[in-house]
Amino acid sequence: MSYSVLIVEDEPVLARNMLLYLERHGIACQTAASGEEGLALLDEARPDVVVLDHNLPGQDGLTVLRRMREREPQLPVVMATGHGSEQVAVEAMKAGAFDYLIKPVSLHQLKQVLDRAVQQQRQALELQHLRAGGVAAGAPAAQGLSALLGESPAMRQLRARLQQLVQAEERLSEGRSPAVLIGGETGTGKELVARALHFEGPRRSGPFVEINCASLPAPLVESELFGHERGAFTDARERRIGLVEAAHGGTLFLDEVGELEPATQAKLLKLLEDHQVRRLGSVREQNVDVRVLAATNRPLEAMVQAGQFRGDLFYRLGMLRIELPPLREREGDVVLLAGRFLERAARRYGKGALRFSDEALERLARHRWPGNVRELGNLVEQCVILASDAVIEAEDLPLPVMPAADLGALVPEALQEQPPSLPEAERRLLLSALERNRWNVTQAARALGISRDTLRYRIDKFGLRP
Ligand SMILES: Nc1ncnc2c1ncn2[C@@H]1O[C@H](COP(=O)(O)OP(=O)(O)OP(=O)(O)O)[C@@H](O)[C@H]1O
Ligand SMILES: [Mg+2]
Repeated sequence: MSYSVLIVEDEPVLARNMLLYLERHGIACQTAASGEEGLALLDEARPDVVVLDHNLPGQDGLTVLRRMREREPQLPVVMATGHGSEQVAVEAMKAGAFDYLIKPVSLHQLKQVLDRAVQQQRQALELQHLRAGGVAAGAPAAQGLSALLGESPAMRQLRARLQQLVQAEERLSEGRSPAVLIGGETGTGKELVARALHFEGPRRSGPFVEINCASLPAPLVESELFGHERGAFTDARERRIGLVEAAHGGTLFLDEVGELEPATQAKLLKLLEDHQVRRLGSVREQNVDVRVLAATNRPLEAMVQAGQFRGDLFYRLGMLRIELPPLREREGDVVLLAGRFLERAARRYGKGALRFSDEALERLARHRWPGNVRELGNLVEQCVILASDAVIEAEDLPLPVMPAADLGALVPEALQEQPPSLPEAERRLLLSALERNRWNVTQAARALGISRDTLRYRIDKFGLRP
């Protein structure tokens, strides 16, 4: 899901940390160091959501929150308060904050809260739109198959297969097309594929409703997905339509489906089998017509074997499978994509013509790209922002000093009873460096010869924890 965030935070290190993390996940960010600056930026930045620190120079966060709410009552604001100031959090909620976070803020959690805020906001807008009887606008070109760049054999095959799926769906006169399960490493384009399937297919004028399963708070899952009747529980003051119903006539995209709790898995299975939902507190089942797409970067098959994911749900979701190849296996695409991204970013940042030197391109082609296309896009954007010259040289590339492919060689021998896979070797190496440095990320990064941000990214990617 892509959207934009305004970060109002006076502590520069924290602000930058948030910004890097969010941008790495494809979220556009702007920062302001005071409430006044944040308010002044509102019109220009048009954010989808705001992160607001409480302890600011000048007007405090609560005051700024109230002023933002007056000007943009629909805009969700997430308040960040220091440890021990839970009272402020309570005040913030009363003043209409969407949610609050207690510092030190976990970046992963921050993103989850922001995702949820934007998702709810969009859902509300979508419903207004549906109630008004409007029809969603046709597919902007950027959402279709043509958004999937790449001329490698792997990408050509992928586009051909997607085309086949779309055609099969067009021909289908009765019933629903089976679900499609989209697999692949992080950043390979699973979301783009889901959008392409929706916006190229016969349901393109229906809603495309995206649910990030990892960001659904467990106690709210049911009512978020299936809706509730008035009075179904204490806080249910109004009847509410769930996301599944909101997708009626269109596509329901279940992102990060591997993160679903077992209870929710069972409910979804029922939806896939019967095409019915029941709102919480209702006695009636409601028919819904949705096409389900699901994505995951986890090995669902292995999770089924380990008893972590329901086999019957896996079977239903994976009637059709699309597996996205990692970027390193798409011959020639790194160079092609780097060029396209460079052009795009140069235009966006108002820089003149830029190009990579041959050596730089060679270096890009050699990198392993664990974050795949997203990592490449972010790197190119950084290059553009920092570029002082028309030619970007190999030394200008913010790539780790140590190529990931060499990491395996550094793993202490004791760990190598069996030659581990590269990701496993990397995971162990990171873990041992972190443990040796007592989880001091800065020191561990130095020991590994990579930047702190890179290490943070990898900690996150592997889900490492003390
Ligand atoms: N083939 C491609 N051509 C152009 N841009 C791409 C391509 N594949 C991915 N991207 C871009 O890379 C970024 C990541 O893609 P996307 O969000 O679809 O990945 P994902 O597989 O869903 O990752 P995750 O598992 O982390 O959610 C997006 O900005 C997307 O536009
Ligand atoms: Mg995704």
